[in-house]
Amino acid sequence: MSSVPASFSAFVAQKDGDTVTREVRQLSVDDLGDGDAIVKVTWSGINYKDGLATMPKGKVARIDPIIPGVDLAGVIVEPGASGLAEGSEVIVHGYDLGVAHHGGFSEYARVPSEWLVPLPQGLSAKQAMSIGTAGFTAALSVHALEKHGLTPGTGPVLVTGATGGVGSVAVGILAERGYEVAASTGKPDAEGFLKELGATEIVSRDETSGPGKPLERERWAGAVDCVGASTLPYILRTLKYGGAVAASGNTGGIGLEATVFPFILRAVALLGIDSVAMPIEQRRDVWQRIATDLRPRGIDGIGTREISLSELPSALDAVLAGANTGRTLVRL
Ligand SMILES: NC(=O)c1ccc[n+]([C@@H]2O[C@H](COP(=O)([O-])OP(=O)(O)OC[C@H]3O[C@@H](n4cnc5c(N)ncnc54)[C@H](OP(=O)(O)O)[C@@H]3O)[C@@H](O)[C@H]2O)c1
Repeated sequence: MSSVPASFSAFVAQKDGDTVTREVRQLSVDDLGDGDAIVKVTWSGINYKDGLATMPKGKVARIDPIIPGVDLAGVIVEPGASGLAEGSEVIVHGYDLGVAHHGGFSEYARVPSEWLVPLPQGLSAKQAMSIGTAGFTAALSVHALEKHGLTPGTGPVLVTGATGGVGSVAVGILAERGYEVAASTGKPDAEGFLKELGATEIVSRDETSGPGKPLERERWAGAVDCVGASTLPYILRTLKYGGAVAASGNTGGIGLEATVFPFILRAVALLGIDSVAMPIEQRRDVWQRIATDLRPRGIDGIGTREISLSELPSALDAVLAGANTGRTLVRL
């Protein structure tokens, strides 16, 4: 533990009545979460969940105070029982990180060694955090759609919330794998960003979140949805016969009001995606694939902004307001 300095900087969110104080504090190793491994964090990134973890009624943080940050990449200082060498580069995300265990918005993190994912060859720590939990979820979504039978050439694939973390990586992965990608966005000025990642068509968010008939014109061979609410029912009623949607998020809301017609008349499938509780061996395998065959196009363009710990409050507000484009990286 000697290589951890006596004090280091961490961003802390602490409830104070109906508000949450968010500030950079000087902490010591004793303030960190439990675990047998210590990582010197080099990069983290912002996810929607981090915004919720710092809201008074976000219902995400299960400890108080909390160092948020559901993603981190860095260098091992104490390998614990991992079998990895001191100085090896690792990724940590999922499980309790940033919600019930102190997370990545800190110069040092202590975690159970069974949470460590060795950084795959071909990915830098910064690129891994450009992907982060959001991009990992996009990779899981593409994997699930292909397992269901989606292949390039079966028709356009719709990505909703396309400028966000999950959406932008999904656009890049699908484009690189040869799919025709339609990107749904509420940001008309993001067309250039999305086309750079490989989208061939831009669809307005109004179109993908409005009311409609129980079944409409068959349009999409598949879809990656992180919005939920009125967007998921739109997708279900416009999927082609036998198509599928991978649903991972609730940026638009948690409700789901749909009819059974898409399921019983068009055999469409609703595939649930979870990145949090996935067993570590599978998590390590998916990261290997992200470095190789699920690598998104334009990987270095996904991290659109780099910030320091002290800039987190405004960046977290932006992600909660849906104003995010690409991934915001936190440089430690
Ligand atoms: N299941 C899992 O394991 C898992 C893992 C990671 C994330 N998630 C969930 O996935 C969702 C997205 O996460 P993220 O990190 O990608 O967030 P993000 O970076 O903020 O992206 C979300 C995007 O959704 C769109 N959006 C925002 N507000 C909206 C609204 N009111 N209605 C419709 N669209 C809206 C925006 O894109 P446009 O402006 O381009 O439309 C925004 O950029 C969140 O709900 C998150 O909790 C789930």
